[in-house]
Amino acid sequence: MGIVLKGGRIITAADSYEADIKIEGEKIVAIGDNLECEGDKVVSVAGCYLLPGGIDPHTHFDLDVGSTITADDFESGTRAAIVGGTTTIIDFATQNKGETLKKALQNWNEKAKGKCYCDYGFHMAITDWNESICNEMGDMIKEGVPSFKMYMAYKNTLQVDDGSIFRALKKSSEIGALIGFHCENGDVIDVLVNEAKSKGNTSPKYHSETRPAEAEKEAVFRAIQLGELASVPVYIVHLSSKEALSIAMEARKRGAEVYVETCPQYLLLNDSYYDPKGEDEFSGAKYVMSPPLRKSDDQKSLWKGLKFNEIDTVATDHCSFNYKGQKDIGIKDFSKIPNGAPGVENRMALLYTYGVATGAITENQWVSLTSTNAAKLFGLFPQKGTIQVGSDADIVVWDPEYRGVITAENQIQNVDYNPYEGFDQRGKVLHVFLRGGQIVVNSNIVSKSPDGIYLHRKPFSKK
Ligand code: URP
Ligand code: ZN
Repeated sequence: MGIVLKGGRIITAADSYEADIKIEGEKIVAIGDNLECEGDKVVSVAGCYLLPGGIDPHTHFDLDVGSTITADDFESGTRAAIVGGTTTIIDFATQNKGETLKKALQNWNEKAKGKCYCDYGFHMAITDWNESICNEMGDMIKEGVPSFKMYMAYKNTLQVDDGSIFRALKKSSEIGALIGFHCENGDVIDVLVNEAKSKGNTSPKYHSETRPAEAEKEAVFRAIQLGELASVPVYIVHLSSKEALSIAMEARKRGAEVYVETCPQYLLLNDSYYDPKGEDEFSGAKYVMSPPLRKSDDQKSLWKGLKFNEIDTVATDHCSFNYKGQKDIGIKDFSKIPNGAPGVENRMALLYTYGVATGAITENQWVSLTSTNAAKLFGLFPQKGTIQVGSDADIVVWDPEYRGVITAENQIQNVDYNPYEGFDQRGKVLHVFLRGGQIVVNSNIVSKSPDGIYLHRKPFSKK
C-alpha cells in the first residue's frame, strides 16, 4: 500500500515535467502515469509543483552565545523549517575552548535528539586547534560529520589563526572533508570596533560600519589561497558582497575549487535597515548579523551570481534572538548585540517570490540552490536533494498561485520579529512529506511528535 501524488508538476535541478509520484514506506518507488494500485492513498496535487524537500545547510538552533541562547531551539526551529518546505537542516556543532570534537558532537546530539521535526545533520565548528583535534577530524567522518567550519572572525572567541586553518585544510583532503569558512578579518574588525566605541559610537549602525566589505574580501581571498596551497576545496559560508564574490570567481577561473553560499538576507535586505528613518534607532539591531547587510549594488551582484551559477547554495544562517529581551542586551553598545537573524521558515518562499516569479532565476535553479547542491556538497545525494526512484520521499507540494504577505504575527519560528515583515509572498508550501510521512497538510503541521532523524552523511567528493 502506497501513496500516489497525482496530477502535479515535478521540478528538479535538471528538469520540470508532469508526472505522478508513488511513495512506499520512506522511499519514492515510481514516477510516471497510472501508478495507483488497489489500496493506495491518492492525493490530488493538480496545479501544484512537486519539489525535493529543501536542505538548509546553515542553521544555529539552541546556540549559547555567552550572553544569551538563541530564541529557536531544535524543536521550534525545525518545526518552522518543515512548514517552510525545508526537510533537512545542517546545524553547527560548535567546540568550546578546551573541548574535544567528540564532546562537542555529543552536546549537539543531546540538544537535537528527539526534538526535530525535519531530518538533521551537523557540521563541526573547530574553535580550538591542536594535534589531537587534527586526529579527531577523521573520527568525525566516522560519525557522519564530513564538513567543518572555521571562523576567521570573532577575535578571542571563535576565531582561529591561519596556521590552524592551513593544517585543517591539509587534513581535510586525507579524510574526505569539506571546510566552510566564515570570512571576515576578525583582527581588523576588532580594531575598528574599539575605535568606534572610543568615539562614543554605540548604535547598531556601527556594527555595519566596523565590518566593511573589504574585511570580507580579504578573508575570502585568504581562505581560497590557503585552500589552493593545500590543494583542497573550500566552501565560503554566507558570502555577502560583490567584491568577495569576484574574488571567488577569479579563483574559480584559475582552477581553484571554491563553493559559495549566500543567504536571503544578503539578496533582499541592505544596509539602509541600520539607519531607520523616523523609527527607533535601535531597531537596526534586528539586522545585526555577521557579515552585515551590504549595499544594493552588492545585492544585484549576488542575484547575478545566482543566475550564472556562481553561487552554489542559499542557506539562512538562521540564528534568532528576540528584539525585546535579547537584542537589547546591546542597547548601549552595538558590539554586545547578539549576532544573527531568523529565516529558516521563509527561505523557499523568498527565493520563489523574488527569484523564480521575477524571472531572476529558473525554477530548476531554485531547486538546485535550495536543495540539490547542498545534498551533493554535504554527502546526502541522491538520498536527499532530488526526486528520483530510490530517493527518500522528502517532497514539498508547492502551490504557485498563493499570494500573501510575510508577518511575524503568522510565523512559526519562535522569535518576536521577522526581518522580511511586510514582504509580499508568492506561492506557498501546501503539503510536506518527510521520508514518506505527511508532516504538513494544507500548510499546517500535523505531526504530533518530532520524527526527524540524524543523518549520517557521506564523505565529501567533488560535486
Ligand atoms: O550573525 C551571525 N551570522 N550569527 C551566527 C553565527 C555566524 O557568524 O554564523
Ligand atoms: Zn552562521
